[in-house]
Amino acid sequence: MSFQIKTFEEYQDAYKKSVENPEQFWGEVADQFFWKRKWNNVLQWNFKEPNIKWFEGGKLNITENCLDRHIYQNGDTPAIIWEPNDPNEAHRILTYKQLLGKVEQFANVLKNNGIRKGDRVCIYLPMVPELVIAVLACARIGAIHSVVFGGFSAQSIADRINDAECKLVITADGGFRGTKVLELKTIVDDALMQCKSVEKVIVLTRSRTPVSMIKGRDVWWEDEIRKVETQGNPACPAEEMDAEDTLFILYTSGSTGKPKGVVHTTAGYMVYTGYTFANTFQYKPGEVYFCTADIGWITGHSYIVYGPLSQGATSLMFEGIPTFPDAGRYWDIVDKYKVNIIYTAPTAIRSLMAFGDEYVDNKDLSSLRVLGSVGEPINEEAWNWYHEKVGKGRCPIADTWWQTENGGHLMTPIAGVTPEIPGYAMLPLPGVQPCLMDENGKEIEGNDVSGNLCIKFPWPGMLRTTWGDHERCRQTYFATYENMYFTGDGCYRSPEGYYRITGRVDDVLNVSGHRIGTAEVENAINMHSDVVESAIVGYPHPVKGQGIYAYVIANHHIDEESTRRDILQTVSRLIGAIAKPDIIQFVDDLPKTRSGKIMRRILRKVAEDDLSRLGDISTLQDPTVVDAIIEGAKAFK
Ligand code: PRX
Repeated sequence: MSFQIKTFEEYQDAYKKSVENPEQFWGEVADQFFWKRKWNNVLQWNFKEPNIKWFEGGKLNITENCLDRHIYQNGDTPAIIWEPNDPNEAHRILTYKQLLGKVEQFANVLKNNGIRKGDRVCIYLPMVPELVIAVLACARIGAIHSVVFGGFSAQSIADRINDAECKLVITADGGFRGTKVLELKTIVDDALMQCKSVEKVIVLTRSRTPVSMIKGRDVWWEDEIRKVETQGNPACPAEEMDAEDTLFILYTSGSTGKPKGVVHTTAGYMVYTGYTFANTFQYKPGEVYFCTADIGWITGHSYIVYGPLSQGATSLMFEGIPTFPDAGRYWDIVDKYKVNIIYTAPTAIRSLMAFGDEYVDNKDLSSLRVLGSVGEPINEEAWNWYHEKVGKGRCPIADTWWQTENGGHLMTPIAGVTPEIPGYAMLPLPGVQPCLMDENGKEIEGNDVSGNLCIKFPWPGMLRTTWGDHERCRQTYFATYENMYFTGDGCYRSPEGYYRITGRVDDVLNVSGHRIGTAEVENAINMHSDVVESAIVGYPHPVKGQGIYAYVIANHHIDEESTRRDILQTVSRLIGAIAKPDIIQFVDDLPKTRSGKIMRRILRKVAEDDLSRLGDISTLQDPTVVDAIIEGAKAFK
């Protein structure tokens, strides 16, 4: 890991070089990966179209970098440690050699089931090692994976499958989460009623939940593996991929419309996730690294699978939830496997804090060296608890700020190397050129200033397009400010030049670290036959970070309690339980401007109970609406 930065001076040198000569900088990083053929150009780009190409002309396969290249010296090093939901079930360890064998085997299963380079494969699996195997098997043969988080509904799966025209779905009979069993195959069956493109479904046995298998379409994972075994040669050579071939699609919510398929390509993503993994966490060979995310989100893609494996690390994955069988589970895992680095989300920290210190105080956490945080702003109280109770005051915290679209960390303290302040993402990593912009499109210079956070220059891990709709990618990220990537986040730069993310400036919510579009939830609520109109805003929530507050105009004859229940069910069915509103307030009218636009600013203030700063309401069609809403909101305080 010779690109690992060890001191603050090395960071400053690397940063300077990455800005002054980005091509040389990233060329040298990329040189430390395995290429079948070297690139012609490190970077060609414009943010206008946008058109971004890293390592153009290079040929490689990311799985050779994540697996094959470690085999010679480190074949017996654990690649994946898997901790099951039930602590009494046996755990599993897959060494690099074993993982490669399983990936090749399953890659052959995919081929036997008609999958070829460029085909899209939807993966809807619980957090079991087969999820990593499935992801890497796709990459092995050049198929594009689209992993869908196990908490999403049949409708959400169907939308994602249809958008990407997936040919095959990989799922399990069911999955365990705490005391619950998720009936994944049944959910997939529901989804597929709407999907014409899917020819085959591969079903893994996990929960032994009864399922119906459709002849000609559905096959068992285990049977298919047996077929490959009897075919003789288990190896599966890695497909030669272009640097810019699509590696995967991952859907994420924006401020408008349906979730969009963020497209990441092969070489840039590999180089960026490997580089940031090695640097942010200062991973040392032999250490055990535990990322608590689900592989259904970008954090799991980049920092359970690709980043750690490309660096030969031992990546621990956990099937269950932090509170099962009790709120000490993460700390039991740390003790059991002598975890050195843990990477989790503020919402998990806050929820565990609320259970009390006794779950953490009596655990042996002496193996921990580095703590990481991701997904949402971390409040000072949670930061301090993490630092004191978990890290015993001796572990640096990497508060990593980044997004699905970024592929990897953009701003974060480098653990123990660059400074840290609670709640601050601090400084950009090498190669990242942040800037703050004002409402008029002008850059805000100097320090002690706030603005909209943009990035001026490409980095290898950035998205290239949104699947099937390049214009949407341009509009969303590259049209607000000329020649800039717009993050959608607000940001403060301190007098010392340190960055602090202040939250989204668009209509995107961050609920328990999950990104949720207000328009998506509104569309779902509006599908309910008794709903006339709705408006969603976020409000501060002690555990989730943000809660979902729904203002709903419903038909007059309704019974509020049962309609509330029905609305929650509708949202669960159309999106998933994660998008269910915490509060539903029925209103007679919504505050609208004379042109008919809902004034969300006012609704947000009411939800936050911040009535002193409602602002100017004189431009409303009917200002009296606001009083009625304030009155109705009292029931929820
Ligand atoms: O608002 C920022 C917030 O999460 C958004 C990105 O969400 P998603 O694409 O789901 O990716 C989450 C995991 C990378 C950002 O626009 N966010 C993420 N990390 C942080 C954060 N806000 C503050 N501090 C962070 N460390």
